[in-house]
Amino acid sequence: MNAKEICDGVLWTGAIDWDRRLFDSLLPLPEGTSYNAYLVQGSEKTALIDTVEPMMADVLKEHLAKVKKIDYIISQHTEQDHSGTIPMILEMYDRSIVVCSPKAKSMLIDHLGLIDARIKTVEDGESLSLGDKTLRFIHTPWVHWPETMTTHLPEDRIVFTCDFLGSHIATSELYAGDDPHVIEAAKRYYAEIMMPFRKAIQNNLKKLREIEFDLIAPSHGPVHNHPEGILSAYEDWVSDRVSNLVVIPYISMHRSTETMVNYLASALVARGIPVQKFELSTADIGEVAMALVDAATMVIGTPTVYVGPHPSIASVIHLANALRPKLKYTAIIGSYGWSTKAVEQISELMPNLKVEVLGNVLCKGHPQDETFTALNALADAIRNKHMMNLKNIAY
Ligand code: FEO
Repeated sequence: MNAKEICDGVLWTGAIDWDRRLFDSLLPLPEGTSYNAYLVQGSEKTALIDTVEPMMADVLKEHLAKVKKIDYIISQHTEQDHSGTIPMILEMYDRSIVVCSPKAKSMLIDHLGLIDARIKTVEDGESLSLGDKTLRFIHTPWVHWPETMTTHLPEDRIVFTCDFLGSHIATSELYAGDDPHVIEAAKRYYAEIMMPFRKAIQNNLKKLREIEFDLIAPSHGPVHNHPEGILSAYEDWVSDRVSNLVVIPYISMHRSTETMVNYLASALVARGIPVQKFELSTADIGEVAMALVDAATMVIGTPTVYVGPHPSIASVIHLANALRPKLKYTAIIGSYGWSTKAVEQISELMPNLKVEVLGNVLCKGHPQDETFTALNALADAIRNKHMMNLKNIAY
């Protein structure tokens, strides 16, 4: 795909990765992704904002084939999908200098072996003149690494945000328009890597609200040409608001736990509480993470294996503990064969989740009448807690 003009002197020079299906050997990419680099040509100097994943270095090289000089390589984030091709650009343009936040400097040296003499650090709010265009750097740490920064190009009313506000979508479209699908993909991306840094992102959003722009150009996914949609979505995700929603990740071995999960889900729906169930042998963990962005309650459905929770449940609890969602309440349900320590072991797996336990329902073998009575009581407890917290919960 050719480079694309955003406005006079500003080009998208990224790479579309249509076939990538996994990021960090962990996160599903059902729609591929893109690595967006942007070339900004002022009357005196030229800057390249971020680069591309090294596997796609040839694409960037082709975009730059007719570019005679690059003075500055703006490195907004050190993770290799954006910084990995910086050494190639430094070699192609032997007078170019890498511009980054002070925190990024040692990281670029550690990750890419860059030398001190070719790195310039910029403070929060500092500007760099390209002649008739100016780059102003805004430190936006923890989206999702500590060194991240955003770049404002005031003359063209563009803000470049790297991972922040981006989405993993491979598309030939340059702009997102009002496509709700892009917001959904951005929510998946937020859920998978940004959610643990919710409080830092609240501050970063406030900083963005203080500047004027018409375009948000992230380094994954299309450019937001109607920025209010993504900004207000992010503000909602990072807010303290939780939804009247119960997320149930579960797995079953002999259908006993599945029977309990289905019973509880029906009991909750009958009480006006929406449910999202995820059967973990087939579930996309990105969708589980998305459901956790604003759910009030998580009920874990697990059989007992090796006296503890099923390993698939242990894995998803480990993820939820790392993502630190806004959850308020939790419960564990499931069946065991002869003995269980599932509750104790699951509790040890989620020290970061500041949740109130609303009651655990475990049964030996197949669920009996008393099990269903206990599940009804759990559904009542969840409904009562959700209703009591109407102020904080959209009911
Ligand atoms: Fe797209 Fe954090 O790298």
